[in-house]
Amino acid sequence: MSDQSWPWWPLLPLYPYGRRPTLVRELIPEQLWSFEQLQGVFYVAVPIRMTVARVPGGLMLYAPVAPTGEVLAALRDLEQRHGPVRSIVLPTASGLEHKLPVPAMARAFPQAEVWVTPGQWSFPLPLPLSWLGFPARRTRVLGDDGYPHAEALSWHSLGPIDLGLGRFQELACLHRDSGALLLTDALVAINQQPPELFDLDPTPLLFHARDRGDQPLIDTPELRLKGWQRLALFASYLRPEALQVPSLGTLLGQAFRPGCRSPRAYFGVYPFHWRTSSAAAFAELQPAPGRLRIAPVLERLVFPRTQAAIVAWLRQLARLRDLRWLVPAHYEAPVPCSAEQLGLLADELAARRWAPDDGNWAYLAGIDQQLLRWGVVPEQPRVG
Ligand SMILES: [Fe+2]
Repeated sequence: MSDQSWPWWPLLPLYPYGRRPTLVRELIPEQLWSFEQLQGVFYVAVPIRMTVARVPGGLMLYAPVAPTGEVLAALRDLEQRHGPVRSIVLPTASGLEHKLPVPAMARAFPQAEVWVTPGQWSFPLPLPLSWLGFPARRTRVLGDDGYPHAEALSWHSLGPIDLGLGRFQELACLHRDSGALLLTDALVAINQQPPELFDLDPTPLLFHARDRGDQPLIDTPELRLKGWQRLALFASYLRPEALQVPSLGTLLGQAFRPGCRSPRAYFGVYPFHWRTSSAAAFAELQPAPGRLRIAPVLERLVFPRTQAAIVAWLRQLARLRDLRWLVPAHYEAPVPCSAEQLGLLADELAARRWAPDDGNWAYLAGIDQQLLRWGVVPEQPRVG
């Protein structure tokens, strides 16, 4: 168990806090590996992934996860076979969940170069990277200082987009030997079945598979799937349309019932009621073709007025003729994909209604409109 501990969890106190089990999988034989952990709040936990890529002379770590003993042991094993970790890449300017593990990972590999996306920002205070634990001597900025392993990878920037508080920018890279495009948050394919990572501990799925707080946690394949569909809807829309928040009286009336008096079940407190089946809403999260999509939280809160920039970025990626896979930092990977498919996705996004206000999108739209009223986010964001 000590091998799974992550002492820095209070910096971003997300489930599963101080204990982070990791699922290690080979994605493309001898080329790419996935290191997945869970992160979330109140059991709304979705997979977060580090991708390890084979590069000339060793390995590159793309979007590090918490370097627990278990993670480091698996990395040392890969180093034995394929050479040292040569570079550690933080491919996003804004994704705090990807930034926090970087200093600890850098300390574990003192010979590796650290590459960061430009325009890193910290909230509430703008702190220099060295104060956040980034090693100044070996930290480089992607683009400004070149790119790592340019002989084996091609780099493609989404943004920068001015968000008011800071900027959104993400650097995707095509790993030519495997044909895999590594991404962070911009595109996802939401797993149709519960991700394998939950086999290590299905509690979050079982917790959300219930309809009321006084129901015990029961483990069946059907309930795992139901729980997963709801988790994905939560993570995508924050408050999906089918969700009702019951009154405090109802909540407390259902709490502390027999079978639920454990911290694992939050003592029976379950502040959500589902009005309709979550299966239908879940199906809408996976548009054809290829189930690839912009995560709704990003579309409605980060890109609501920059549809053109997203479409242009996809058209740029659609020129990568060697593309065979996508490997995002969340949800499913590797996702089979071709340049042509990204071109079709760009066409579809350009043609459809962007960042809607109704149905499942209403709660996200409300947050965005409030931020606009307060002047926190700009009416016309600057792109590039
Ligand atoms: Fe992320």
